Amino acid sequence: MAAYEYETHEYDCIVIGAGGSGLRATLGMAEQGLKTACITKVFPTRSHTVAAQGGIAASLGNMGPDSWQWHMYDTVKGSDWLGDTDAMEYLAREAPAAVYELEHYGVPFSRTEEGKIYQRPFGGHTTEFGEGPPVQRTCAAADRTGHAILHTLYGQSLKNNAEFYIEYFAIDLIMSEDGVCQGVLAWCLDDGSLHLFNAKMTVLATGGYGRAYFSATSAHTCTGDGGGMVARAGLPLQDMDFVQFHPTGIYGSGCLITEGARGEGGYLTNSEGERFMERYAPTYKDLASRDVVSRCMTMEIRAGRGVGEEGDHIHLHLNHLPPETLAERLPGISESARIFAGVDLTKEPIPVLPTVHYNMGGIPTNYWGEVLSPTKDDPDRIAPGLMAVGEAGCASVHGANRLGSNSLIDLVVFGRAAAIKAGTVVDRTGGNPTLNQASVDAALDRFDNLRYAKGAIPTADLRLEMQKTMQADAAVFRTDETLAQGVEKMNGVSAKLSDIQVTDRSLVWNSDLMETLELTNLMPNALATIVSAEARKESRGAHAHEDYPDRDDENWRIHSLSWFSGGRIKLDYRPVHLDPLTGHNEGGIDLKKIAPKARVY
Ligand code: FUM
Repeated sequence: MAAYEYETHEYDCIVIGAGGSGLRATLGMAEQGLKTACITKVFPTRSHTVAAQGGIAASLGNMGPDSWQWHMYDTVKGSDWLGDTDAMEYLAREAPAAVYELEHYGVPFSRTEEGKIYQRPFGGHTTEFGEGPPVQRTCAAADRTGHAILHTLYGQSLKNNAEFYIEYFAIDLIMSEDGVCQGVLAWCLDDGSLHLFNAKMTVLATGGYGRAYFSATSAHTCTGDGGGMVARAGLPLQDMDFVQFHPTGIYGSGCLITEGARGEGGYLTNSEGERFMERYAPTYKDLASRDVVSRCMTMEIRAGRGVGEEGDHIHLHLNHLPPETLAERLPGISESARIFAGVDLTKEPIPVLPTVHYNMGGIPTNYWGEVLSPTKDDPDRIAPGLMAVGEAGCASVHGANRLGSNSLIDLVVFGRAAAIKAGTVVDRTGGNPTLNQASVDAALDRFDNLRYAKGAIPTADLRLEMQKTMQADAAVFRTDETLAQGVEKMNGVSAKLSDIQVTDRSLVWNSDLMETLELTNLMPNALATIVSAEARKESRGAHAHEDYPDRDDENWRIHSLSWFSGGRIKLDYRPVHLDPLTGHNEGGIDLKKIAPKARVY
């Protein structure tokens, strides 16, 4: 058994991750007087939410008619009927209140002439249950909305006495013998010390795992750390088959060009200068949902109509828009286009390509953020003491495909919901749990084994092999052949973890060890993605299977569950929640409106 000294800390609640959902949960818990700590591997305002550009969806109706029912309908349709109906209702209903709270906390939203929050159009957001024109629903702070939200929530959390452990890396969850989460073991990157956080409630807000792929808009820190810890704790991951490709990553660097660019009037063209989206999505054109636009771009490239010397990308035009609009509404991407594509977007188009952007799947939760440990008899069984929010979690509101700007609202609505729930289930007066020493020892042993790993394969080499395999075999379009080949390769890649090589044995700022720990988190996420995708014999949302081009609701309107054990994935399934929270007679949505149908834009 590895011998390490560690400091023990006791809290009512700990939140792991300081992006939008983590900070919103931290703030909500601290506001209620719960003793709360936020543990984060990067400085809070450097969390990946900082990269969220275009905005946050809520049916405020500032720019024209809108309603939460229309927002819910769009979310259901966007999810390709895989989202949980109760969670999607909760999201759409609570969105306006959550945004007004942000405004009151101090988020500097862009304004209309009348001083209201400015809202822009985004893909898949419509009026009249998909029968009317696009709606302006996405509340924006120029094209730096995530940045503005992070700074505000961090300041408010400090004001409410939340404590922060910054540049601490969470190693593993501490679980009781009967499956209650009791906290986490973490490593302070700065001085090398180890810390045991004993908590009545642990919230995973660790973000997505975009870096399982070679080209992603996600920061290099998006390594699925929560999913990795949950998988090692014997809990499943859900709907990992669904990975979102954002249509407009900058060709080459993968850096994000916000969908807000098309919301403000930008459009895509092929090598013939054709606005090809008019052919594929005659009503909503460039503002069709993301999975649709990404597939259309890929089809144009495959048909030999890509642009550039190798015909392998597409052009995004903003050069027809007034320079004042670009300066006021899209200052961030003007800079990104210049730095990463060498393009002056007032004069020339930006070269773009669908790029991995978001993970619809994650740690299964109910709409309060409580993590689920499903069984056949009880598919909604709660894993006590553990919550997951934001991209790490899967509530599930995005189902098979997320609508743009539904991510930021997911962060704040479910971060807030987790705090509300914690306020009702955490016993403030009772003592903290007695920690399961066997679980603590197992976490220390794993850490020590990796620290002294003497294998043959450097972490960076194995990571690259994983990323290239995922990029090639779990892509925008998938086939039985590519997926089967990908599963075989990924099983081999995962097995090589036992031959990993770490060369730096120190504890202070050991990025070799940290990246190795991250790789052990990425791996179960990546494996679950390709194995669950290989098993799903239909096309739905972001899962575009060329051998099964149609959605199959009879057999596949079902959540996939992936358990990771012995380096392999075991699959099972749980039902989608079909019931809303509120009946139609009580003001809820008319279920006939959200019944499955063909998904056209
Ligand atoms: O395009 C964007 O600004 C990204 C927004 C989102 O992913 O929600």
